[in-house]
Amino acid sequence: MLNFEVVNPTRIVFGRDQLNRLPELLSEYCPSKRVLIAYGGGSAERIGLLHKIREQLKGFHLVEFGGIEANPQFTTLMKGVDLARKETVDCILAVGGGSVIDGVKFMTGAFHYQGDAWDVLTRKENCVFEKALPFGVVLTLPATGSEANSGAVISREELSEKRAMGGPLFFPKFSFCDPSVVASLPKKQIANGIIDAFVHTLEQYVTFPSQNFLQERQAEAILSTLIEIAPKVIDSPDDYTLAANLMWSATNALNGNLRCGVPTDWCTHMIGHEFTALYHIDHARTLAIVMPRLWENQFNNKQAKLTQYGKRVWNLSGSETEIAREAIDKTEAFFQSLGVDTKLSAYTADTDHVAEIIRKRFDERGWTAMGERQAIGLNDLEAIVNQSI
Ligand code: NZQ
Ligand code: ZN
Repeated sequence: MLNFEVVNPTRIVFGRDQLNRLPELLSEYCPSKRVLIAYGGGSAERIGLLHKIREQLKGFHLVEFGGIEANPQFTTLMKGVDLARKETVDCILAVGGGSVIDGVKFMTGAFHYQGDAWDVLTRKENCVFEKALPFGVVLTLPATGSEANSGAVISREELSEKRAMGGPLFFPKFSFCDPSVVASLPKKQIANGIIDAFVHTLEQYVTFPSQNFLQERQAEAILSTLIEIAPKVIDSPDDYTLAANLMWSATNALNGNLRCGVPTDWCTHMIGHEFTALYHIDHARTLAIVMPRLWENQFNNKQAKLTQYGKRVWNLSGSETEIAREAIDKTEAFFQSLGVDTKLSAYTADTDHVAEIIRKRFDERGWTAMGERQAIGLNDLEAIVNQSI
């Protein structure tokens, strides 16, 4: 088992009809009671959630900032930062899915930052967020785990870039996680959420054997739970039990627990972010495209864990190699069974030079040895992208 250190200070308030706790929790972090409420393109209003929040927060000075896009945009978020500064708010409430939550994480750091906040995202030397406003979350979409972690991914359309940030300052102070919101989600978003949570688990599991028996079993438990509920929750999103299990699985897939004492990969995500930046493909769908191809490319390095995964999660039998190969097929078929295409060419015809473009970007960033063994080099990267087409 590898050494590790872990902390997760986010208070999760899980379950239905908990929003009456919002004024109490917000007051802890918001002494002046001046709050910016940030949300996306309209779903939070449509499902009546914003109305409920406004009712709960009648004693607060509320400033609203809507319009944060899926794959939140730097330029939009900077408008939110300007508004937060002008209104001298002392905390932010994110109402939405991963995009709104990530956008708010960025805004809380940019709020105090004197220079160009894009420099922080591109990791320009000495450019870091040193302070952040406190923020809370009302989650509307189980998928990313952003409600319980300190990471964020921010896009910049005009540069076709998507960059990650994070750090201890960016844990939500609290997150309201009410599974009832699943009932209002389009089927496509539920499928995306299942795949994102599934791949988060796999990125921290299909590596090499870690001798951390507990973490490996916990990962297998999340994978098995998602496989069990996936088709049912898409068909019956108003089934509270299914929705609750989806939401809790997604939170647990990326709240920092699964990575304890184990090697992690994350290369599928790194490539997937480029597909979103270049082609605007939904985050989860990029993962469904990349992961099977990355596993084929890294078959020898990952075979032991693929076999363990095949046996324990998919109940496969046969030789060790056969099981490992079939585990890849099962995973791809699982994504497809949720209505998700696993080839880049299903989303865009414009695939000429994509592998070269991504290779150049990774090279410029110094990302030349990736994966749990640092065995994925630029030639492998190019091969994985080409195979993904
Ligand atoms: O904008 P609105 O109108 O709110 O609509 C949203 C959006 O169009 C809609 N939606 C959300 N809740 C809804 C709803 N529609 C109906 N009813 C509801 N209850 O769903 C659409 C997608 O929302 P979004 O927030 O973009 O989805 P998701 O939660 O999948 O977040 C994706 C973003 O998170 C990043 C991704 O890269 C992407 O930018 N990620 C963040 C991570 C993290 N912070 O830990 C990890 C992930 O790997 C991921 O990279
Ligand atoms: Zn993800």
